[in-house]
Amino acid sequence: MNNLMILGASGNALDILDIIDSINDRAVTDSERWQVDGLLDDRLPEGSLWQGLLVRGALSLANAIEDRQFIMAIGSDKSYRSLPALVNATGIGAHQWATLIHSGAAVSRSAKIGKGVYIQFGSSIAGLVHLEDHVKIAANATIGHETRIGWGTIVAPGVIISGGVVVHRNVYIGAGAVIRQGLEIGEGSLIGMGAVVVKDVPAHSIVAGNPARNLYE
Ligand SMILES: CC(C)(COP(=O)(O)OP(=O)(O)OC[C@H]1O[C@@H](n2cnc3c(N)ncnc32)[C@H](O)[C@@H]1OP(=O)(O)O)[C@@H](O)C(=O)NCCC(=O)NCCS
Repeated sequence: MNNLMILGASGNALDILDIIDSINDRAVTDSERWQVDGLLDDRLPEGSLWQGLLVRGALSLANAIEDRQFIMAIGSDKSYRSLPALVNATGIGAHQWATLIHSGAAVSRSAKIGKGVYIQFGSSIAGLVHLEDHVKIAANATIGHETRIGWGTIVAPGVIISGGVVVHRNVYIGAGAVIRQGLEIGEGSLIGMGAVVVKDVPAHSIVAGNPARNLYE
């Protein structure tokens, strides 16, 4: 049995609970099963319950807990830029971050999947894709062959990323966005929901629309 603590009571945490259920439903051996031992969250009172899970305290408690694995559930289009600082502040060692893949996701055997990654139902991860640590893939996303997705990037539901795309660190890709093959998406950028991206996206920019353009130029 693997023991997991979720960091942050959020919509992402609900996704993670569904992923855990799907893994446990299919598990054959005990070593494949996960038990969620509660949450760490800075806003909820210690000892309270969230979705039936015990809130064990603030995120800063994580580095004192050695016998658990962790998954970071914080990250939205508003908060994604603070993810590197949040992850660093936990002090959690690389070996303690879980990798969780919904049993209804299709992940190529040649894909490389980092630590702290989760992949939700219906997503397809093609051959030679590399998902770096702490990438979040929501439901029904398609990641084309040989695409690399950088550390901490969040891919919202229904995104389609074609083959050979390089997404740098700490990007947010909004729901239903589509990215043409071979493009480069700069570090810290945000792609709005429904965007059709046909050109490289500069670092730290916010693009949206069809074709996607900088929203704030
Ligand atoms: C792009 C985005 C970050 C902009 O948010 P914001 O900075 O709060 O901007 P606003 O909502 O004030 O919109 C600013 C302008 O951009 C337009 N706009 C916002 N989002 C847009 C989008 N996705 N596509 C096209 N235009 C968009 C607005 O209509 C508005 O235009 P106006 O100034 O002519 O009225 C946001 O709308 C977005 O797409 N976030 C991703 C959401 C998502 O994917 N969620 C998934 C959750 S699972």
